[in-house]
Amino acid sequence: MEQSHAPIGIYDSGVGGLTVWLALKRLVKQDLIYYADTAHVPYGEKAREQILFYSHTIISFLKQHKVRAVVAACNTSSALALPTLRLTAGVPLFGVIEPAVREGIAATKNKRIGLMATVGTVDSGSYQRRFHRHAPDVQLFAQKCPKLVPLVEAGKTAGPEVEAALQQYLEPLLKADIDTLILGCTHYPFLLEPIRRIAGKEIAIIDPAHQTAQDVFKWLKENGYADSGNPQDIFWASGNPHKFQAKASFFVGRQIGPVHHHKLDEEKPGAIQSFLLELAPVWRGENDQ
Ligand code: DGL
Repeated sequence: MEQSHAPIGIYDSGVGGLTVWLALKRLVKQDLIYYADTAHVPYGEKAREQILFYSHTIISFLKQHKVRAVVAACNTSSALALPTLRLTAGVPLFGVIEPAVREGIAATKNKRIGLMATVGTVDSGSYQRRFHRHAPDVQLFAQKCPKLVPLVEAGKTAGPEVEAALQQYLEPLLKADIDTLILGCTHYPFLLEPIRRIAGKEIAIIDPAHQTAQDVFKWLKENGYADSGNPQDIFWASGNPHKFQAKASFFVGRQIGPVHHHKLDEEKPGAIQSFLLELAPVWRGENDQ
């Protein structure tokens, strides 16, 4: 494939990254390859080593398809894997956390920002460190929301279970008098309606997808990449491709596909260990840079 027609790769554990895919589709006229690691969803409570390995394997797969850049449309991977993989990937990697932090800083007036995210993202301290670095006067209130990704992946975006989980997670943030709320997991914008209703209309809600798409758009322009005349969409899933196709079509609001299957092969004995050994010269176990 010629570089002028090289696609952009996007990945997530499941349907969440489609919020970024939708934002990209609105802004960039490029072939897009979306990879859903549905064999391993949810990422939110997995060990950092696993997230590193899955992210690395997906990026390598996307590179085989000659992508010119990869978007980690996943906060958990952006937090736990990107700082390390940026040193080894050999292809530009875009994450969703930097754009979210920038937008949060621009939006807040009372300097009290709420973050809803997975356990892995919150515990990584990635958002906390970035706010500390770029806006030390901002107080960040981080809420782990482990129930939300399984609900969204099950196609539940409304109803009593969703309401109860959102009430539980939003209550401490609202009590903390935040004026800005970051949806720090790409699955959560699919819950925007109930989140907006519970949070109230005074709170600025940040969906990092839009700013991430802007970053990619700007980079394409700066590097002189022309639009593709007839942009193609390609989908891969590490789990059942038919299930992903049905679910993704539901969330995107139109039929997408076909979805191809790729087995993401961590079962090979010692695969994760030998990957970590290869990584050892650049990875010293730190969370972030
Ligand atoms: N949507 C991803 C994120 O932004 C992954 C969530 C998960 O699989 O737990 O963190």
